[in-house]
Amino acid sequence: MVSLSLLLFLVLINTVAFVLCVEQFNRFDFPPHFVFGSGTSAYQVEGAAFEDGRTPSIWDTFAHAGFMHGDTGDIACDGYHKYKEDIQLMVETGLEAYRFSISWSRLIPHGRGPVNPKGLEFYNNFINELIRHGIQPHATLVHSDLPQALEDEYGGWLSRNVVKDFTVYAEVCFRNFGDRVLHWTTFNEANIFVLGGYDVGITPPHRCSPPFGTNCSKGNSSSEPYIAAHNILLAHASAANLYKNKYQGRQQGFIGINIFVYWYVPYTNATEDVIATQRAIDFYIGWFVDPLVFGDYPDIMKKNAGTRIPAFTAVESKQVKGSFDFIGVNHYATLYVKDDTSSLKMDNRDWNADSAIQTISDHGDTPPPPGEFPITPSGLVGVLEYFKQCYGNPPIYIQENGQRTDRNAALQDTGRVKYLHGYIGGLLDAVRNGSNARGYFTWAFLDVFELLDGFESSYGLYYVDMDSKDLKRYPKLSAHWYSKFLKGRNISALSQSHFSQ
Ligand code: FCB
Repeated sequence: MVSLSLLLFLVLINTVAFVLCVEQFNRFDFPPHFVFGSGTSAYQVEGAAFEDGRTPSIWDTFAHAGFMHGDTGDIACDGYHKYKEDIQLMVETGLEAYRFSISWSRLIPHGRGPVNPKGLEFYNNFINELIRHGIQPHATLVHSDLPQALEDEYGGWLSRNVVKDFTVYAEVCFRNFGDRVLHWTTFNEANIFVLGGYDVGITPPHRCSPPFGTNCSKGNSSSEPYIAAHNILLAHASAANLYKNKYQGRQQGFIGINIFVYWYVPYTNATEDVIATQRAIDFYIGWFVDPLVFGDYPDIMKKNAGTRIPAFTAVESKQVKGSFDFIGVNHYATLYVKDDTSSLKMDNRDWNADSAIQTISDHGDTPPPPGEFPITPSGLVGVLEYFKQCYGNPPIYIQENGQRTDRNAALQDTGRVKYLHGYIGGLLDAVRNGSNARGYFTWAFLDVFELLDGFESSYGLYYVDMDSKDLKRYPKLSAHWYSKFLKGRNISALSQSHFSQ
């Protein structure tokens, strides 16, 4: 049910937020315990795909099948071998925290069974190196890269078996690394992972069914995204509860899950578009956060998806509700939302048709250059305000935010600097207005293998020269800019004086 006050809130937040964003600020305007960092993920940065006992994940299979125009993460940035050099760059940049993910199939090669001593050694060395340099490690357990062995054996996230195997893997991580890693995220972008992988089939495990996706040999777009999401929530809850009951008292860390969040603005002030905007929020955000906060899916999802969305038993609902210390949010852009209830007349529906909305990209204050995102910091303010008002203001980490540019674009990435400046300013507004945001990570530290376009786009603060033998890293303007910000220099609107070395 959409209450009147919520409608009013949506209209207000979407109009007022535009005038809020602060222009001049520095790192010390944020609360002392707020952390700033940057991140990457295992498949996107490590490379060494066939070394030291690692077996393929569903991402290796997908990339090797040619779905990324021939690009793969076989070598990526060679972070597996170059991690000391990269941590040195983190130190020079002034990162306070680093977000990385652990490759499940490097640590436990067949998804379950014996732990790989080489995998253990690598992550121990990596974490120790971060700690030695005073950089907080923030670890994600699954950044889309389920071991292929589990996909083959029982269909991965479509099977309840995965709950147990994931929990065992998570425990290996808590037991071995939890004395040093105090921030655990179970899944990256759980919502986008299931939509990409099981509805439209553009990412692994590459499942979909016509007319919703193309080129998949198997799948069911109407039901599988809901089933995989349900099992991910149960797996998350199982690992999080294990952490809370067995490790948290001793290790004093925190655990959460990450979702991808757009901000949503009604396309017009018509009541149908305003109601559709709430529906967009329920389908993208509420799908995962409602069960975590309230113990069940949003009513509108249950109504529109009917029996295709699994029901929580009373026991499951209790396990899922409250099974987090923080929510990780990846935010890049804002969408306009239009009502499209005609889609509900179709008998064969996927998640998109169930949501009964149409979305349109926003253009920001000025249309962005080709290949870049619009800059709409009010969207981040809106997201954080929504979590505050509607979910009781839980601790939030912005775990990804950053600007896309084409690969090999200039080192003078002014578009990225403007983007980061705008969004960090919006974040400060939100924090000053009482948001419980606790940290912010740019995506990405380096130009990595990108999950949507391989090596065709880049988000890094550091350019990686793929043509040089040792994959040399070069700082972009944004690396200098972020570094100045992290070191406490006042940062105002873009001016060249901020970038003189
Ligand atoms: C997100 C992914 C991240 C990166 C960015 C650009 O969806 O979490 O790994 O590829 O997009």
